Order: sequence, then C-alpha cells, then structure tokens
Amino acid sequence: MYFKNSVIAIIIIFAIIFGAKTFFSNLIHVGYDDNLSLEERIKPSGQVYLAGDIDVNAVKAPVKTTAKARSGAAVYTASCASCHSIGILNAPKFGSKADWAPRVKRGIADLVKVATTGVGAMPPKGTCMDCSDAELKAAIEHMIK
Ligand code: HEC
Repeated sequence: MYFKNSVIAIIIIFAIIFGAKTFFSNLIHVGYDDNLSLEERIKPSGQVYLAGDIDVNAVKAPVKTTAKARSGAAVYTASCASCHSIGILNAPKFGSKADWAPRVKRGIADLVKVATTGVGAMPPKGTCMDCSDAELKAAIEHMIK
C-alpha cells in the first residue's frame, strides 16, 4: 500500500514537471532554430549603396507641379490680409490710395522686389513662401487697386 502510493506520487510529480516545462518553453519560444528570423534580427539597421548600385537614369525626375497660379485675391486673402487689411504694424492698407500712392510711384517691379526680400516689419514674400513673383505681383496689384 505504502509502496503503491509512492509510485503514484512520483508519477504525478513527473507529470507536473514535464507539463510545466512544455508549457513554459512554448510560452517563451524565441525560435533560434529559425534561420530566417535570426538573420532578420541581426541584420544591420542601414544599408550602404555604392555608386553604380542604383541606375540613376532609371530614377524618375520629380514631377514638376503644374498647379495653376493663384489669383491675386486668393494670395492676398491667404497671406497678406492679416496685416494689410487694417494696416497692422503700419502696413500700407488694402485699397488705400494715400498709403500706396507714394509706393506705386516707384513702380510695380520694385514693389515686387521689396515684397520678396521683405522690409522692416514686412516679412519676406509676405509669409507666402511658395508664392511665385507673378503671384506676389498679382497680390500687390489686388491691394493697390
Ligand atoms: C506680418 C505682417 C505683413 C504681412 C503678412 C504682409 N505684409 Fe506687406 N507690409 C507689412 C508692413 C509692416 C509693411 C510696411 C513696411 C515698411 O514700409 O517699412 C509692408 C509693406 C508692403 C509693401 C510695400 C513695400 C515697399 O516697398 O514699400 C508691399 C508691396 C507688400 N507689403 C506686399 C505684401 C504682400 C504681397 C503680402 C502677402 C503675400 C504681404 N505684404 C504680407 C506687413 C506685412
């Protein structure tokens, strides 16, 4: 009787140990036998391209945007009105003959030039950094009308 119980106890203990081993090794299985994932894991984080690795002629030149030029009114509203509508920081006001007359005398080309570089509190390009000269000119013409 005593002997029989001991054998059963030993079998149960082995069963528990083996069960636990299988359970945990499945749980934390990291797959070292998996060569592909091993290579993935240890590969360098960057790759070096040498001259000639890439056919530069095959790389397409960036497509030039052929977006239509914005109208003077659109540019004015988006970029210039914040200051020029009510004359913030002494900016010449929209449509004000008194403010613009002395400037217009210098010629539109000069106004475009000064608007591009900025002057005093007037920021370069009036903050419209992607504006073309033509768009700036249109915005100025819209303001001095
Ligand atoms: C942050 C405010 C501000 C914004 C935005 C702004 N301006 Fe001005 N602008 C000024 C101020 C201030 C002056 C007066 C500068 C001076 O004469 O010292 C001025 C002057 C000008 C002048 C006259 C420059 C000269 O030679 O006398 C032109 C032209 C002009 N702005 C065009 C524009 C255009 C076009 C935009 C939008 C694309 C624009 N501005 C946006 C503040 C601004």
